[in-house]
Amino acid sequence: MDDRSIDWEQQRAWVEIDLSALAHNVRQIKSLLAPHTKVMAVVKADAYGHGAIEIARTVVATGVEWLAVATVTEGIELRAAGIVAPMLILGAVNSDVQVQAIAKWGLQPTIGNIAQATLISKAVATLQLNEPLTVHLKLDTGMSRLGTNWQQAVAFFSEVKSLPYLQIGSLYSHLATADELDPTVMEMQLDRFQQAIAAISAAGHSLPLLHLANSAGILVSDRLHYQLVRPGLILYGLCPAPHLHSSIDLQPVLSVRARITQIKDIVAGTGVSYGYRFIADRDLRIAVVGIGYADGIPRRLSDRLQVAIRGQLVAQIGSITMDQIMLDVSQIPDLQVGEIVTILGRDESVQITADDWADELGTISWEILCGFKHRLPRISSSGNSCIAATTNPPSIKNCKRWRSWVKEIVYMYLSK
Ligand SMILES: Cc1ncc(COP(=O)(O)O)c(C=O)c1O
Repeated sequence: MDDRSIDWEQQRAWVEIDLSALAHNVRQIKSLLAPHTKVMAVVKADAYGHGAIEIARTVVATGVEWLAVATVTEGIELRAAGIVAPMLILGAVNSDVQVQAIAKWGLQPTIGNIAQATLISKAVATLQLNEPLTVHLKLDTGMSRLGTNWQQAVAFFSEVKSLPYLQIGSLYSHLATADELDPTVMEMQLDRFQQAIAAISAAGHSLPLLHLANSAGILVSDRLHYQLVRPGLILYGLCPAPHLHSSIDLQPVLSVRARITQIKDIVAGTGVSYGYRFIADRDLRIAVVGIGYADGIPRRLSDRLQVAIRGQLVAQIGSITMDQIMLDVSQIPDLQVGEIVTILGRDESVQITADDWADELGTISWEILCGFKHRLPRISSSGNSCIAATTNPPSIKNCKRWRSWVKEIVYMYLSK
């Protein structure tokens, strides 16, 4: 044993992943779909900061048929973990090396234009595969990101179809504004996608799988569902826009907690943290907490962040530092070192969400969630049982078997 295993009972901060909430969200999504419509779970960016492997395993076990990642590396990570579901790479593929990895790991690339199609076809030709590589054609219907302009859909489709070693698995596009109240652009994109589909069909091609809807698209209208939908955010229990809340019952999957590492009293006039952006206007009891911007709390929330302790909201004060924050805990005089602070998530009746932070910062909840993909250990639970821990996790309520799990994992890790 080395020092890495010593302090797991006093882990300074961690992410909790509630896999029951995730499964609930998948069931909610499925309840909105026609029986023939399949789900492609978007697990890119380490499943929006939740941990791609555990998330992918759970969604597949809950009936999700497809997975989507952004990069080849993300796909390999999942394949190496034994996840065999069909997997679409949403990002661009522009090199032979990427194609070799795609073929080796059984991934399926997006083709955004003829140049990419030609490159992939040529690269596959050198690999002597037993069957053609399945590729997915992306149309740009108004996002102005990857894809061929919808007006060139027929030529694009026909040319890719004529290339050797490729088979077209699907035709898709991406919505730019489905979460906005004004449906004009969304309707325009739907109309363009429909026009492209009709033109491809009129040219005599049989249609592959069609897909268009992201989370907002799923909630807005079943006209956007086609045979496959691509939810990201709603899987993780957040809603793309306030006006869509009533369309689905979601449960946040991620919580972030940290421990109090020191408590002290300061007198009126004392400055707190870098730059002294907070000066106490009265005598205060403050607590130091072992989590900071390197863990995923945006520094721009400095002096604006609210956390929860013992079911009460508590104000963070001064600049958020790389590894630590300070709280004004004067309202809880008997607070102890080691007590748990809820940074994001539920503490009794208090709920702090990524939306609260996003609203405060003028950003989106997607960006907040992705901020937690780096340093913090993650512990996943499902109901009352602990499923997995990435490294030295802390105790969590109702997680009876976590100690033996953690010991096993730490032991396996150290004996590698
Ligand atoms: C092509 C594509 N489809 C689907 C999604 C999922 O989007 P959302 O998280 O809004 O559901 C994304 C995410 O950015 C995407 O890039």
